[in-house]
Amino acid sequence: MNVGLETPILPANEAAVARAARCLAQGGLVAFPTETVYGLGADAANAGSIARIYEAKGRPSFNPLIAHVGDLEAGMRVARFDATAKKLAEAFWPGPLTLVLPRTKDCAVADLATAGLDTIAVRVPAHPVARSILRAFGGPVVAPSANLSGHVSATSAAHVQSDLMGRIDLIVDGGAVNVGVESTIVGCFDAPMLLRPGGLPRGEIERVLGRALLRPAEDADNETGQPLAPGMLASHYAPRTPVRLNAGKVETNEALLAFGPDSVPGMEAASAVMNLSPRGDLAEAAAHLFGYLRALDTQGARAIAVMPVPHHGLGEAINDRLRRAAMGRE
Ligand code: TXA
Ligand code: MG
Repeated sequence: MNVGLETPILPANEAAVARAARCLAQGGLVAFPTETVYGLGADAANAGSIARIYEAKGRPSFNPLIAHVGDLEAGMRVARFDATAKKLAEAFWPGPLTLVLPRTKDCAVADLATAGLDTIAVRVPAHPVARSILRAFGGPVVAPSANLSGHVSATSAAHVQSDLMGRIDLIVDGGAVNVGVESTIVGCFDAPMLLRPGGLPRGEIERVLGRALLRPAEDADNETGQPLAPGMLASHYAPRTPVRLNAGKVETNEALLAFGPDSVPGMEAASAVMNLSPRGDLAEAAAHLFGYLRALDTQGARAIAVMPVPHHGLGEAINDRLRRAAMGRE
């Protein structure tokens, strides 16, 4: 649905960054590239703008947002960092890691952005365009992935355009992103917990911590019943076409999402074939994942058959998103 905003798309340059910062300051919604996926940014202190994010995305309002800041110092104004959190921030920021931490007392981020939780998700993105916009704006920017809720995340300005044109105020086009899956989310609770696998492989985090990350038992916190990382809701990453995982062959009228150099029976007759990484490289596969799911979703296939993808390194995040895609939409 187009609500009639103009939504200019500007190539990422100095003028676009300045306009993005002005737009945010005036309460506008700006899509911009981060190294993981495109974000839909709003002034984190402006509850009205944040409400517009939920509206533009059609997102359930209990889903809290990540506050993007320019550096650790800015992060410390909104969240309390214990020794573990500091260690992780120093090792991996700027980069594809989000930390869930207790809010500070004078945290400027609107309650609506944290969905009333007393914790806040914080991250320092590495993409130069995101960093320039944060610098020019000067405060925390909340930014969910710039896609309609329930749809796959946007990894190019064209994806943002196809989901959000007419619903937001500006798109800054910085080309295709390089990581391709969202940030890894770690909750720094009594013991650090992996809330969402993502662009920073679990092993790298565990190496720095010298211990294994816990996984939440289920998607819900047992005590409060509140989702710990509600972005992990079952149908978060679903294309419209059904997705069939671990396909050893292609059935009639299926499209194929391939991985690696091997072929599978029925491949020649597939409605379409896209290979995440013919040489079997997981970083390349992550970068292609959402774009290829979107492309195969437009083929009118009966289903998208997906070849097995290894689980190590970035494969954990890739398999997590594929599993959610296969669960279908609400
Ligand atoms: O790479 C990324 O993280 C991208 C780019 C734009 O930065 N952003 C992104 O945002 O993926 P979003 O809104 O699509 O996902 C944010 C996730 C959700 O799963 C949300 O539930 C979780 O972060 N989250 C936010 N605040 C939280 C909190 N206080 N406790 C637990 N989970 C939280
Ligand atoms: Mg998202």
